[in-house]
Parts: sequence; structure tokens; C-alpha cells
Amino acid sequence: MEDRGYALITGASQGLGAALALELARNGFGVLLVARSGPALESVARQAAALNNGRARFTTADLFNPNAPAEIAGWALAQEVPITCLVNNVGQGLWGFFSDLPLHDQQRMMLLNMDVPVELTHRLLPVLKEAPRAFILNISSMTAYSAMATFAVYAASKAFVRTWSRSLRLELAGGPVSVTAVCPGSIITGFTERAGMQAMDDLAQKFGTGPEPVAKAAVRAMLRHKAEVVPGLLNKITAALQGLMPDSLNERVASAIYLKRLPKK
Ligand SMILES: NC(=O)c1ccc[n+]([C@@H]2O[C@H](COP(=O)([O-])OP(=O)(O)OC[C@H]3O[C@@H](n4cnc5c(N)ncnc54)[C@H](OP(=O)(O)O)[C@@H]3O)[C@@H](O)[C@H]2O)c1
Repeated sequence: MEDRGYALITGASQGLGAALALELARNGFGVLLVARSGPALESVARQAAALNNGRARFTTADLFNPNAPAEIAGWALAQEVPITCLVNNVGQGLWGFFSDLPLHDQQRMMLLNMDVPVELTHRLLPVLKEAPRAFILNISSMTAYSAMATFAVYAASKAFVRTWSRSLRLELAGGPVSVTAVCPGSIITGFTERAGMQAMDDLAQKFGTGPEPVAKAAVRAMLRHKAEVVPGLLNKITAALQGLMPDSLNERVASAIYLKRLPKK
């Protein structure tokens, strides 16, 4: 198997991050895993090590802590392995009206979804640029494509990730670092429960997919140097239709689905 260097993956203990870690291991990357839960990370590291000749390490960190991105970057560099890939996967959602959701929680979400990827990327870009070929994989969301009632800050944070990712790609064009944004639709993970979206579970079960096909599509797009990928045929069609419709119609349709299910106060 080709040795592609090491990928640092945030939020790798479960859900999409764990699936990305295994898919990257399958594709020849060593993995450096970060999340809060040590036992879950250890289990993912063990599974990854079985796929890539033992090249899996992990560390625990709470990325809500403002010092954590600097510590994680320092830890990754101290491993003395060639870092060739950064996967900015960590993120969370919060569902509800902007005025009802606690300000502090929304600010923490902004930190996790935007500040953490920006800081980690800024700190690790110098080593990525030294590699003959390197990748940044940023996990955005289909919510990046439309304003949405009940998801105001989350959707905006994912629009930020998408635009930042594409802008960074333009700045790095012609160099060794390729930047890819992933815009998944619903994925069946712990995300909905953490976001307080239990009332949407039936829809997620009906239209969502497991994290594995999303991870596969994401890594394939990354290795092909794509700017952006929407995993899954139904999601691709939906995104293409959204591109054809006026913003006001997209916003009404997207919001209606979520507004209808938001539990009344
Ligand atoms: N699920 C969806 O429907 C969906 C759709 C589109 C985009 N996305 C995006 O996909 C990404 C992954 O989501 P997911 O569905 O896999 O969510 P998930 O199942 O909730 O997993 C989140 C991961 O992030 C880690 N994490 C959360 N808070 C953390 C913190 N403060 N410090 C360190 N690690 C932390 C969690 O591990 P610990 O708890 O062990 O720390 C876990 O490994 C997110 O950026 C999300 O916005 C998800």
C-alpha cells in the first residue's frame, strides 16, 4: 500500500470523524486522532492500525478550550511523522430559534465549527506546504447552501467553512496543498441527539445515510483534488436544484421542514 504520510483528524472518536479515519487508513494514511473520549479514540485507533500497518496515534482534548488547537498542533508536530493531511471534521449543531438558544452555547458552537479549523489550519499549513503533496479536508454541510430558520448560527457557520475552504483553495492553487470542502446531507450519527434534534430523527433515519459512504465520497474527492463534494445522489440532485432556485424559495422550503417539527415551547 502507498504510504501517504499522516492525517490529523479532529472529532475522530465517533460518527463521520471515525469513518474518515478508517477510510484514510484504508487509503494509505497514518492517522493522528483527536476528540475528548479516550476509550472511543483508542478503539478507532486500533481499527485504523489494523488497516495501515499500525500507523495510528491519538490524544484527548476538549476543543472548546481556547488553548486546545495550539496544543493539538504542537502534539501533532511532536510526533515527528510527515503530516500530509488535515481533516477539520469536529463540529456540532444546535437546533432552535436563535433567541431561544443560550448565547453561550451558540458562541461555543461558533468556536468549534469555525475558530478551531481556522487555527489548526493556520498552525499546520507551514508543514503541509513542505510536503510534496498534501490535503486539507473541511467538513461543511448542505446547510451551507441556504439560510434556514431554526439553524441560524449552525447554517451560517457551515457557510463560513465552505467559503473559507474555497477561498483558501484559490490562495494555495499551484502549490502542493489541495483543499476540499465536503457538504453532506443528513448522516446518522450522534449529531442529531447532541444538537437537540430528536424530533427530526424519523426524517434522518429515512433520508440519512451512515457515515461510511460519506467518508468514502469525501476521501475520493480529496484525493482527486476536488474543490467541493456533496456525497450521495439524492443530495447532489437537491443541491443542484437549490442552485437553480431563487434564494427566497430555497430558504422557505428548507426552513419549513425544520419549523414544522420544532417542538412548541
Ligand atoms: N450528522 C449530520 O447529519 C451532519 C450533516 C452535515 C455535516 N455534519 C458535520 O459533520 C461533522 C461531524 O459530525 P458527526 O455527525 O460525526 O457528529 P458526532 O457524531 O456528534 O461526532 C462529533 C465528533 O466530534 C467530537 N467532539 C465534539 N465536541 C468536541 C470537543 N469539544 N472537543 C473535541 N472533540 C469534540 C466528538 O467526540 P467526543 O465527544 O469524544 O469529544 C465526536 O468524535 C461536523 O462538523 C458536523 O457539523 C454532520
